[in-house]
Amino acid sequence: MQKIEVKEYLPQIMNELPKGILLSTKNGNKYNTMTIGWGQVGIEWGKMFFTVYVRHGRFTHKQIEASKEFTVNVPTDRKSVAKAIAYCGSRSGENLDKFSDCGLTVVDGISVNSPAIKEIPLTIECKVIYQQEQCLENIPPEILASCYPQDIPSDNPRANRDFHTVYYGEIVHAYIL
Ligand SMILES: Cc1cc2nc3c(=O)[nH]c(=O)nc-3n(C[C@H](O)[C@H](O)[C@H](O)COP(=O)(O)O)c2cc1C
Repeated sequence: MQKIEVKEYLPQIMNELPKGILLSTKNGNKYNTMTIGWGQVGIEWGKMFFTVYVRHGRFTHKQIEASKEFTVNVPTDRKSVAKAIAYCGSRSGENLDKFSDCGLTVVDGISVNSPAIKEIPLTIECKVIYQQEQCLENIPPEILASCYPQDIPSDNPRANRDFHTVYYGEIVHAYIL
């Protein structure tokens, strides 16, 4: 395990994020992971955050509400995990074990209970210290129309009805397994 400075990996993170990276959680004994394409690394209150956007209907939303932590798992060899990223972005983990379905190996986190993933070794461990609901009246109408058209209900992995909770995950550890 090699500890890393997240700021040195920003180009890689920004390159991979729009293609889909993983956001992993653990609540009690239940592990889950989902694909995300939105997020930011940034600084507020003198702390470094990985900020993620999770629609209300996602199983991941329940997991983070309960655990207040997550890991971000950034592919370093996309070809080898492309199928897993697609699967984890199109199925709810509520009644599935997406890790075993995709042949992904869960590895215990260091400072959080949320897991690292052997096959996706670049790991950012985060503790949620702040969260915010989107203020709908501040979202430009063209974005409301394109991102929240309201025609796919919450229980569908492609739901577009729900809005997002913004979770500010303070980065507490970052490493390559
Ligand atoms: C490339 C890609 C990016 C995605 N980005 C996000 C995102 O940033 N936030 C979000 O709430 N859902 C996003 N999704 C949708 C979730 O990954 C999908 O609904 C998933 O099935 C949710 O899993 P869960 O119910 O187990 O949490 C994305 C899907 C794909 C394929």
